[in-house]
Amino acid sequence: MSRILFYLDGYSHDVWREAFRAVDPSVEFRGFPDWGSPDDGPAYAFVWEAEPGLLKRFPNIKAIFSLGAGVDHLMRDPDLPKDVPIIRMGDDGLKEGMAEYVLMSVLMHHRQMPLLATAQSKARWQRVFSRPARHVRVGILGYGALGKCAAEALKPLGYNIAAWSRSPKPAEDGVQHFTGEDALNDFLARTDILVGLLPSTKETEGLLNFDRLSRLPEGASVINAGRGTLIVLEDLIALLNSGYLKGATLDVFPEEPLPADSPLWHQEGLLITPHCAAITRPDTAAEYVVRNIGRIEAGEVPENILDLGRGY
Ligand code: NAP
Ligand code: GLV
Repeated sequence: MSRILFYLDGYSHDVWREAFRAVDPSVEFRGFPDWGSPDDGPAYAFVWEAEPGLLKRFPNIKAIFSLGAGVDHLMRDPDLPKDVPIIRMGDDGLKEGMAEYVLMSVLMHHRQMPLLATAQSKARWQRVFSRPARHVRVGILGYGALGKCAAEALKPLGYNIAAWSRSPKPAEDGVQHFTGEDALNDFLARTDILVGLLPSTKETEGLLNFDRLSRLPEGASVINAGRGTLIVLEDLIALLNSGYLKGATLDVFPEEPLPADSPLWHQEGLLITPHCAAITRPDTAAEYVVRNIGRIEAGEVPENILDLGRGY
């Protein structure tokens, strides 16, 4: 029997309790604030944006599971316990969700939906010509669990795909790999549709500034479904307004929710989605957490442990 201390503000916990019950009826599910006493027996935390300091007050926690693949919400806690494994979400539901979102977004820019939507809003019958997918160069920034699934979803359509990551990757059919900062400008120069799937770290914050975005070919589009800290928004907007960049889709923002008075809502060529590219699904996530608790209890290494030094 495992005790799970669950934290997710603003959403009903019932669907999560049920999801854990379906996977393992012996799980004791405790939704915050009903976490019991810090002196109770061993427990596992499963949290999203928990209040800073809360996890430290429960020294009985054996491992911390992040409800998302991103752990920036945990890294912001100055009292984050560092002596227990911290495990990032990596369930199949998240991967499927991101693959669908990237496929949808790449197709939207390849087939010029932002331009068509503007034409519709002005009652203009404006037909557009789009190149075949094999002539469209997609560049995926970040080739981890989600970047790989995005590439797998795009491959059947024939896109010309490249990926950029920190460490070298084995050669792979259908994806050209670029590694490290030295290769970033070459990667950008061959990319018509850029897909951001990077974690938020010291290294990735502000990475896509005016200079970097200008390395993309004229007429390129930018999609960001990683974290909002990646892009200097004023620079992106300046390049959209000048016509150098053709369009963008943003799912993530430095400030969320995006304030209602943000001019971004009305930016021509920009599609906005409210951080819903891949929302963690209770069924697959509960299965993932229970599986990894099993590994820990068996003395094995769980999947997807956060490397505190790298920050992801
Ligand atoms: P992951 O498996 O850890 O992959 C991260 C990728 O980024 C890796 O390929 C890594 O390179 C690369 N990377 C990290 N820092 C880098 C740097 N400085 N330079 C170059 N490459 C770098 O993470 P994931 O599961 O794919 O998730 C990625 C991110 O997506 C999450 O951190 C989260 O922020 C975001 N996300 C967003 C949503 C949404 O709904 N919008 C949903 C889920 C996740 P290496 O391969 O060399 O390590
Ligand atoms: C969502 O943003 C996640 O990090 O899973």
